[in-house]
Amino acid sequence: MKQKSSTRLVLICGLPASGKTTLARQLAPQIPAIRLDKDQWTTQLGLDVWDDEFRVRLERQLWALTQELLAQGQSVILEWGHWARVERDEKRLGARALGVGVELYYLDAPLDELIERAQRRNASGELSASPMSRAHFERWATIFQPPDEEEFLLFDEQD
Ligand SMILES: Nc1ncnc2c1ncn2[C@@H]1O[C@H](COP(=O)(O)OP(=O)(O)O)[C@@H](O)[C@H]1O
Ligand SMILES: [Mg+2]
Repeated sequence: MKQKSSTRLVLICGLPASGKTTLARQLAPQIPAIRLDKDQWTTQLGLDVWDDEFRVRLERQLWALTQELLAQGQSVILEWGHWARVERDEKRLGARALGVGVELYYLDAPLDELIERAQRRNASGELSASPMSRAHFERWATIFQPPDEEEFLLFDEQD
């Protein structure tokens, strides 16, 4: 078992509006960890969260920064969706290579609930991005690879 104070990487996995940022904000002061919110970085840089090419480049930079922080003993929370198993494998193996803990959180909610939350979030101006439609969510749900029991066993226990 890890010590509670040990350095760790926390991955939060889930579709848009599943509550990743909300959970990351709760966890950050408890761990304590630096939260890297890709959507916030994107919008604050004046760019579009729908720009896939930029998204991939920003994720790469934030992952490089994450590894530097972890190597210096700073815990980090990555709260972008990590939709693909391969993305989670990369982060888990990277953390292991640095000798730090790595935890996975998976947030799930019915599609109708996600759609409602996304609509409310848009109406509130909380995330200034183009609206996410039902059709988007239905497509994303077919692409998303939820973690299974076997994958969870590869991670450390959540504190
Ligand atoms: N468990 C929950 N129940 C109801 N609403 C929630 C819950 N978690 C988050 N929300 C709300 O849903 C919206 C999306 O949450 P957010 O944390 O921004 O999701 P994500 O970061 O996964 O896109 C926000 O307005 C948030 O306040
Ligand atoms: Mg978010």
